[in-house]
Amino acid sequence: MNDETAGKPVNSTRLTLERAMQFHGAGNWERAEQHYLEVLLDDYRSTDVLPLLASVVANRGHIDRAIYYWDTLLSIEPHHLNALAAKGGLLYRTGRLTDALSCFEIAAGLAPHDALIRNNLAVALADSGRKDEAIIEFGHVLRLQPDNVNAYHQLRRLSSAIVPFWHIPMMNDTRRNDCFELAIRRALAIRGSSAQILDIGTGSGLLSMMAAREGATNIVTCEAVPAIARVAQEIVAENGYDEQITVIGRSSTGLFVGEDIPAKADILISEILSSDLLAEDVLSTFEDARRRLIAEDAIVIPKAATAMGCLVASETLAAYSHVKMASGFDVSRFNSLAPLRLPIHGTMTEWSRLSNDFEIASLDLTSAAHEPELRAVSIPVIASGTAVGVVQWMQVELIDDIVFTNHPDGYHDGGWLQVLHVLPRPMPVEAGSVVDLLLGHDRSTLIVLPAGFASQPIKNELR
Ligand SMILES: C[S@@+](CC[C@H](N)C(=O)[O-])C[C@H]1O[C@@H](n2cnc3c(N)ncnc32)[C@H](O)[C@@H]1O
Repeated sequence: MNDETAGKPVNSTRLTLERAMQFHGAGNWERAEQHYLEVLLDDYRSTDVLPLLASVVANRGHIDRAIYYWDTLLSIEPHHLNALAAKGGLLYRTGRLTDALSCFEIAAGLAPHDALIRNNLAVALADSGRKDEAIIEFGHVLRLQPDNVNAYHQLRRLSSAIVPFWHIPMMNDTRRNDCFELAIRRALAIRGSSAQILDIGTGSGLLSMMAAREGATNIVTCEAVPAIARVAQEIVAENGYDEQITVIGRSSTGLFVGEDIPAKADILISEILSSDLLAEDVLSTFEDARRRLIAEDAIVIPKAATAMGCLVASETLAAYSHVKMASGFDVSRFNSLAPLRLPIHGTMTEWSRLSNDFEIASLDLTSAAHEPELRAVSIPVIASGTAVGVVQWMQVELIDDIVFTNHPDGYHDGGWLQVLHVLPRPMPVEAGSVVDLLLGHDRSTLIVLPAGFASQPIKNELR
């Protein structure tokens, strides 16, 4: 603050400032701005006047000019908390997310206990697609303000967007859990409790805790979704197994023997089978694990998985998979955009079988490499109807003779759903005839198509 500037008595500048504040208080932003500018020209109490000026300018809708005044203040006081927070707010309002984020990050660093600033940082992180960091940040907000309903809701919204809906029913799937526990027990009986175990895809930590409960002492488990890994770490500790189990919040492809896991694993446990077998990238993950992370003679659980299916008719599913007329218009061309597959929610969807069970694709999960495959198969039709597609389920061979299946006859609404693989067009079929299908996989999806496409082997030069 200069006591006297450019020969102008300070009293006069002080009066101008008072007038500016009166205009400001009265909501006369234009006159307030003029008077603040005069005060600023007099170099009088600049660090007090700049926030007021920035705020009236912003009120007048001149956002970039407001940012300019906040920047001017920051050039004098780089750690001015209000300037950082307000500038961040203006940048956010005008869609400049990256710049807003850096303001909020610096501000949060300066005021780690300021719930508003941390909340703004969390919102900007979420909007920038940095969901995991947003989850952590909203967690901080909630520790500062346990009753903050918005932070609580945002935390739930983001977590549920990261964690798929099937995770809870999967954990509640006693039949699945018991099969894995039995298999883990067998493997430990063979290799002993000091065997090095690698569990890829921690989830809640369930499979690792089964191994630990069975006495295993050297378990490393990795989880690609950091938010899930953090919760798993807490669950493992709460259950008293954190001495035996190391949880790593990273994808298996980022693990290294000697760094993350002391030695190549003697037992690999991994349940990363999606309902349609392949969508969780099981083939690349197992191949990578075999190449780098497990011993040559490691026990692999599960050792194999097969996608099974049957041809089905269903009016309900037909209405989800194909369209012809809508309100008198022919919209059948939209079928070119129809879904490739639909999850079937157990008994909620009626369908009837038109064929016996057949194999769609079978995977040896112990092998070093898997090629895409496609083969022509003639399926005998056992009932007449209009085939909408193939309902598919899984048969998972865990170890020895322990097999889990979610065959639709005996398994509804467990962790795994059955899946309808939609035919491009509904296909009327007669009992006693055969339907020729092309069946196989491209390593990440199952393929179910009517024959008629030449059965060319699938070549993917990129793999
Ligand atoms: C189907 S859940 C199984 C969770 C737990 N193992 C169980 O059986 O309850 C699979 C988990 O593996 C994680 N995952 C999938 N591929 C992974 C990989 N390559 N590395 C680490 N985690 C992975 C997913 O994020 C998901 O949480």
